[in-house]
Amino acid sequence: MNIAILGFGTVGTGVYKIIQNAKRQAQNLHVKHILIRKNKKPDLPEMTDSIDEILNDDDVDVVVEVIGGIEPAHQYIVDALKHKKHVITANKAVIAQYMDEFTRVAAENDAKFYFESSVGGGIPWIQGLERALRVDDVNKIQGIFNGTSNFILDQMHRTGKPFNEVLMEAQQLGYAEADPSADIDGLDVANKLCISVDIAYDLFIKPTADLPIFGIRNITEDDMTHFDKLGMTIKLMGKSHQRGNEFDYMVEPTLYYGDTLEAHTRDNYNLISLIGETIGTLKFMGQGAGQLPTANAVIQDILDIYQGKEHLKRTFKSSFKYQPDLTKNDYI
Ligand code: HSE
Repeated sequence: MNIAILGFGTVGTGVYKIIQNAKRQAQNLHVKHILIRKNKKPDLPEMTDSIDEILNDDDVDVVVEVIGGIEPAHQYIVDALKHKKHVITANKAVIAQYMDEFTRVAAENDAKFYFESSVGGGIPWIQGLERALRVDDVNKIQGIFNGTSNFILDQMHRTGKPFNEVLMEAQQLGYAEADPSADIDGLDVANKLCISVDIAYDLFIKPTADLPIFGIRNITEDDMTHFDKLGMTIKLMGKSHQRGNEFDYMVEPTLYYGDTLEAHTRDNYNLISLIGETIGTLKFMGQGAGQLPTANAVIQDILDIYQGKEHLKRTFKSSFKYQPDLTKNDYI
């Protein structure tokens, strides 16, 4: 299978590394092109700065978009699908904005559009959610969706270090976005919760100013000491319910007692939960950020295409309503 990687940052490099040292089924994969920025000097033979070279290469089966941000990522994804190439992306910001368009253009061109790595890094969350949906309605989703903010809160709690110092560590470890404000102000969680809601409730919502989205920027060392005295741990959560055509949605820091799984979700880990009607509560935990776990999830999607494994078809409802008081304080 011939692959083109668009973007060679943290995740793109990780995908390349895993394929170069491929074991097991990943040995069937070959990176043919890597798209780099116009002003960057190519230092690998696969590198090119021409998107047209990639789009017009009939040997390219799969395009992996890991540029990040909205444009040109959005345009490249649409163009690749229109050239009948399968597209895989880890870019939650662009999916949250354009999931409906990508789904439609993929179907029109008989191409796949898969995005396991966009939510929960290496955790098979989308796959788990889609499996639950084969049988159940999933009416609640809740999770620690951001590795950077979890790392920051965990380090502040365990070491007493100040916010800015641990944020820099998260950036050095490759957990944070290029602009880490999305991580610490809740937008990254909002994107991931929208993607999960789109799939779980079959409705397309975008993170807008109407939805409550709070981050962790203002949490101080003194707050941490106070939470500790209460025997509680603070986590940045994304939460949503649906009932009929109504849903609620929020991104907010939340206190958990020390004996909960949430309180024990450490470092860059994510913990994402769903409630299905017959499956009950499922909780998925793993490294939610970081080069190799995220790259691994990209490669799982490529292998699903290679092996003809279909993901869930999405058909978005046309009428639904945000209802903030749907189920007050009723979380998993
Ligand atoms: N910046 C993101 C996080 C990367 O920290 O969770 C994974 O989506």
